[in-house]
This record gives sequence, structure tokens and C-alpha cells, in this order.
Amino acid sequence: MNKISIIGAGRVGETTAQILAQRNLCKEVVLLDVREGAAAGAAMDMRQSAPYHGFDTRVTGGSDPALLKDSGLVIVTAGSPRKPGMSRSDVLEVNRAVIDVIVDEVLEHAPDSLLLLVTNPVDVLTLHAWKRTGWERRRVFGQSGVLDSARMATFMSEATGLSIKDIQTMVIGGHGDTMVPLTRYCTINGVPATTFLDPDTIARINTRTQNGGGEILELRGNSSAYLGPAAAIATMVDAITSNLQRVLPCVCILDGEYGQRQIPIGVPAMLGSRGIERIIELPLNAAERSALQVSIDSVVADLEQL
Ligand code: 2OP
Repeated sequence: MNKISIIGAGRVGETTAQILAQRNLCKEVVLLDVREGAAAGAAMDMRQSAPYHGFDTRVTGGSDPALLKDSGLVIVTAGSPRKPGMSRSDVLEVNRAVIDVIVDEVLEHAPDSLLLLVTNPVDVLTLHAWKRTGWERRRVFGQSGVLDSARMATFMSEATGLSIKDIQTMVIGGHGDTMVPLTRYCTINGVPATTFLDPDTIARINTRTQNGGGEILELRGNSSAYLGPAAAIATMVDAITSNLQRVLPCVCILDGEYGQRQIPIGVPAMLGSRGIERIIELPLNAAERSALQVSIDSVVADLEQL
């Protein structure tokens, strides 16, 4: 893939652009923002880091939607972030209007791209964007589970003292307080994580994972997380640009999987150059199924506000 556009030159967008460039994940990154100077300035700043990071990725920025032309992937980070005390659903109305404008621009200027949603509430907005595009569902998906699973892995590493490199975690469901950390599917270099963790510690890790974004927002006060989110987006981009067929939890539009139709929710999927190439249906036990249903219900409640 030659060209990736990132819409929204806030902290998440800017940090993502820098990681994509540093890792040479594509030839060209375009940062777009309605605040033209913010995008152009960030891009110029990044270009001037290239001599020391040694990347050849061309980074440019601006506000003209025509800059989207020929993008293979468009990443949407634009929108209002939540403030301390707010839930992700509280920014639905304002961000839906932002997404409407962006999707129309993508349809006009990058009609053959993939669309990766990051703006919250990401589950609902992924469905909304997908419907507006009229595209195959594999082309429109969202980031949440990669970040949520990274948070879970971090907490597991801290609780066990074991290397983060050996920890594999899986979080499914909506990107909110009802997300479902699947401890039964977590391993530490192939060994079930439950071997290393007692039930109380597992419960604490799960709760902290569900509140992972909120905990950072409360601490920072004036900013949501952006380093973890940008690393999560870059992980998905790598799977797409290098056609890795990685199994990553992504916000997918379900069409029969998990017994749901037209529901946007985080589930493991095979991610490659065609986008969501396959949705993986995990066998869930009764408790996991009912936790996923609670999470789906909360996404559906948001969908009803659309
Ligand atoms: C997070 O979980 C902002 O939703 C984002 O940090």
C-alpha cells in the first residue's frame, strides 16, 4: 500500500502518523484536519525528524479533502474526545455529524480505500460509517480490541512480573465499560494465564481493563490516551499493509456471526490487505456469552440514539 490518510491531526492522529513513518509502513502518509495549519505543521515537524529516525515515508498535511486521492487506507481519528466524567457514548451526537462529512469526502476522493474508524463511540460509528458508504463490510472496521487487549496484557505483566513479550490477551465486545476480557483465551507463552493468576487478581485486571481509557483520562485531566491507541492502530495498519492475515480483535459488522446481524462489535478477525478477511467465532461458555450479550445490548442502546 502506497498511501495512507489520517483524518484528525489531534494527538492520536499525529502520533499514529509518526509511528507509520518511523516504521516505513507505507510510502506516503497524509494528515488531514479542518485546522489546516495543525495538519501541515505536524507533518512538517515529522518530516524534520526523518533525518534522525531514518525514514523515507513522505508525510504531508492539510485540510483539502482532495488530498485523500489514491489512499489505500483512510484512518479516522477526528471528532470530540470525551472529558473526565463522560462516557464514550456522550460524544455520539457531535461525532456522528463529523463522521458524516468525512465519509462523504472519502466516497468522493478515495472510493476504493479501506476505512478504519477510531473516533468514539467507535462501535456505533463504525456501523454508521459502513451504512453510509454502502461498501462491503470487510472494508469498514474499527479499532478497539487491539488497544483493550494491550491494556489487559500490561496489567497481567505487572501482576505476574512476566515479560509482556510472552503475554497474549483477547478482549471482545464494545469499546466501553462492558467490554469482555476473555481470560480463558489469554496465555503466557502458550500456558493458560489462569496458571499464574488467582481469581481476585483476574477480576481486578478485568475491571481495570474495562476502565483502561477512563483511568488515563482521569489522571491526565485534559487528554485521553493516545500513545496506546496509536500503537494499536499501527499494529492494524501493519497487518493490512503487509497482508499478514493476523488474528486481531477488531470492530466488525456482524452478519450472522455470534448470532447477530448488522451489529458492530469487537471480535477476533483475520486482518489483511483486503480488510476484514474473516471473522473468527470463538466458542464461548455461558458466562462469556452472557457478558458479550450485555456488551451488545449497550451498543444497541447507543445505536438507537442514531
Ligand atoms: C481509549 O480507550 C480514547 O477510547 C480511547 O483510550
